[in-house]
Amino acid sequence: MAPREVEPHLFVIMGGSGALARRKLLPAVWQLAAQGSLTAKSIILATARRRHLDDESYRQWAREALAAAGLPADETCTHWCDECLHYHALGEEGPEDFQALRSRIEALERQHDLPGNRVFYLAIPPASLPLAVEGLGAAGLHRAPGWTRIVVEKPFGHDLESANELDRLLKRYFSEEQTYRIDHYLGKEAVQNLLVFRFANPVFESLWSRDRIASVQITVAETAGIEDRAAFYDGVGALRDMVQNHMMQLLTLVAMEIPASFEADAIRNEKAKVLQAVAPIRQQGVCFGQYVVGEIDGIGVPGYLDAAGVQPASSTETFVALELNINNWRWQGVPFYLRTGKRLAKSTRQIVVNFRCPVLSVFDRYPDAAVSANSLVITLEPDEGFELEFVVKAPGDMLTLQPQRLRFRYDEVFGRLPEAYEALLLDILTGDQTLFVRIDEVLAAWRLLTPLLEMRPRPYPYAAGTWGPREADSLLAPVGGVCWLNW
Ligand code: BG6
Repeated sequence: MAPREVEPHLFVIMGGSGALARRKLLPAVWQLAAQGSLTAKSIILATARRRHLDDESYRQWAREALAAAGLPADETCTHWCDECLHYHALGEEGPEDFQALRSRIEALERQHDLPGNRVFYLAIPPASLPLAVEGLGAAGLHRAPGWTRIVVEKPFGHDLESANELDRLLKRYFSEEQTYRIDHYLGKEAVQNLLVFRFANPVFESLWSRDRIASVQITVAETAGIEDRAAFYDGVGALRDMVQNHMMQLLTLVAMEIPASFEADAIRNEKAKVLQAVAPIRQQGVCFGQYVVGEIDGIGVPGYLDAAGVQPASSTETFVALELNINNWRWQGVPFYLRTGKRLAKSTRQIVVNFRCPVLSVFDRYPDAAVSANSLVITLEPDEGFELEFVVKAPGDMLTLQPQRLRFRYDEVFGRLPEAYEALLLDILTGDQTLFVRIDEVLAAWRLLTPLLEMRPRPYPYAAGTWGPREADSLLAPVGGVCWLNW
């Protein structure tokens, strides 16, 4: 397929010397450049508040970041850094600092003969967003000779009220069409495949409802702890960090109706409807946890409260399990279980669809012929692919039933999958909002979860290296016989 046309542009990364730029954004832009996906001139201007770098030292910093991300820091890369990367120290973000930024942008556009298409990627902490949006707007940077797009990272606000407030501020300067709310889960290939899996394979879609499905589990389990992110994570917690965005987005893709077309708004309309149909969450349907000292892969790890920068006696949750019910014709009575946590036994992102058992088993009188429900396990990462579990007769005289799996793995067929940020950056540059979260989705998710934040369930302790607190198991009691699938 011919690469999508990218127009010449200036890509401004605010927070250009931060962790996101280092780990994700620069490697992704460089990959796009190296593989020829940037079909027109793409100049990068990194800005940061305090770091006193200049173009030269920033390029050196970027080369090191690319090497640390495992990319070859060869001559082509050095050439790209020299040609395309620029740095601007933003200072304390007063009005005059944004005027200076504007002058620098215009100078770069003249120097590189760019037509004035601009992306502002706000790779900055949530608390700094309002100042940046206000600063850009007041300096007139929301308008340009070409197009202007603004990219906002999650979490968008920290509850319903603050999300509304941030939205009002953004709307003073930027329209919804200019605003790209990024959720990197939507850029993962296996996540994008969910819609193809459902809507291009009628064999599954015909089973995709309360008639055939008993329950759904969505798990995002990490063995990693909070690393050096206490300043962000403590007080934010897993509900805001993972559930409000990544997990709710996964839920929408599993549960949405077939869109009228594959256009951005047609898809986002259906996703928003799912979130609007979720019933208020019952207190008994929630379990929070916080990890204590334990072992991961045989190595001892300290508990959350001992992590550098965490408040003593912090009640921030590092684990959440939730039961959600969707009040619509397709899903009435089918519980959706969401579970996410840090320092769990294994690192996996998975969706498990448990189908209903046969209403009556004709094999009842045979001791080794218990019929179990079929299940479909969609693995989003690592080892992207899926497995369909079904039952076969084991050869021999006695009737013995045995579960087996039909298996598909992406890497066996397609090799390396692109990083989520590569796909999303290309979408931003080509103006495709399909994989970006619309404001009504964000607000619907907050509307659902804000009461839980106010309820603040006390987190149960769980040992690092386990699957979370035992109390999370009792959420599954309504679907007797089903437990969390811990692969
Ligand atoms: C981020 C969260 O959005 O997603 C992190 O802030 C989390 O806490 C990360 O570790 C998980 O992403 P992935 O792609 O590794 O599943």
